[in-house]
Amino acid sequence: MTANVGGFPQGFLWGTTSAAHQVEGNDRNTDWWEFEQQPGRIANGDTSEIATDHYHRYREDFALLRELNQNAHRLSIEWSRIEPSPGEFDARQIRHYRDVLGELREQGIQPMVTLHHFTNPLWFARKGGWASNDAAHAFLPFVHRVVDQLGDLVGLWCTVNEPNLYGANAWVSGEFPPGRRGDIAALYRVTSNMRKAHELAYGAIKRKWPDAPVGLSHHKLLFLPASDKRRDRWAAATSQLALDRWPVAPGRLRRVVESTCDYVGIAHYWGQMCAFDPRRPKDQFIRRFNVPGRPVTDMGLSADPSWMRLVLNELRGLGKPVYITENGLATDDDEWRRRYITETLSNVQLAIADGVDVRGYFHWTNTDNFEWARGYATHFGLIGVDRKTLERTIKPSGRHYGRIAASNSLSLLH
Ligand code: BGC
Repeated sequence: MTANVGGFPQGFLWGTTSAAHQVEGNDRNTDWWEFEQQPGRIANGDTSEIATDHYHRYREDFALLRELNQNAHRLSIEWSRIEPSPGEFDARQIRHYRDVLGELREQGIQPMVTLHHFTNPLWFARKGGWASNDAAHAFLPFVHRVVDQLGDLVGLWCTVNEPNLYGANAWVSGEFPPGRRGDIAALYRVTSNMRKAHELAYGAIKRKWPDAPVGLSHHKLLFLPASDKRRDRWAAATSQLALDRWPVAPGRLRRVVESTCDYVGIAHYWGQMCAFDPRRPKDQFIRRFNVPGRPVTDMGLSADPSWMRLVLNELRGLGKPVYITENGLATDDDEWRRRYITETLSNVQLAIADGVDVRGYFHWTNTDNFEWARGYATHFGLIGVDRKTLERTIKPSGRHYGRIAASNSLSLLH
């Protein structure tokens, strides 16, 4: 790709990302819905009942994206709506998503479609969900249906969202359904089943749409050693291996990416320091903590825009185009969000100059939404949503991002 002066490569994708359950509302046939009804699971007892009512307001939401000069948008299709019980498909819901994707196209916005973003139909969850051996095959009929009936409207495909984070939240920390804790064996089964699902979905999509780019989104955790000492470097490397797991064993990453990814999708938000600590046998003798001197977001994690360059450089050798499928800040300090966007994007430019083939950036997220276990109190959006009236208001950071997208460059900002 060629770059304009002081700018990003031509054809760079400027987008935002959302996920069906976090925005649509009334998504009742999922394991998440059931989980939200259990007392104590979600902050302030919030539920996704209304979310942002995007299911009905998508036209208005996409018009706002257009106003912010977006040329791409990443969104997910809700499996439980399309396949409410095994093998039974809902034609009305397929029509709904045809309208949604068609509307994006009308607005000149290219859809990147995620097939799995954290939620599962209840029937699938009841059979053991992603920890069950036939999970990947159970997912496939839905994939085929979407490929056949929506594929003509899709620009890019993202098969599964962040298997490492999903597995850890659902089976280790218990923050996501099924709310299990400490089950590391299940975590590894889940990531490996999601890898299988990705590979099967890749084949299914490519058979019908050979030219459509297909990849997945990996949640990139950044672990920094607390000092130069060998034991702290070991602590960081071990954390990286255990928690920053791609859905493949590290040695096989290149092979898997080569054969079943047309691009690499990376979501990056935060970093932690790691120190060897002999008093923590239960934590593999590792103490992890926020990076001193770096600001902490409302998720309680430290963030630093310069980490984006480090993260992207790790992908340089893979020889694949890279999309930043998510990046953002949980804060009510919109001025910080504005600065963070500029500084992160200038680090993306540095990574491009280093030789990483970055083709697009998707900010998390367009509208403030249902932030899983944190409910509505945590705000990542470029657009605010009044919880009573659901009225949308573009924040200054949103306008700022819109200006960058319009000029495909950071240089006009100064
Ligand atoms: C997930 C989103 C989530 C965001 C902020 C990402 O890892 O894909 O669904 O809202 O992080 O926590």
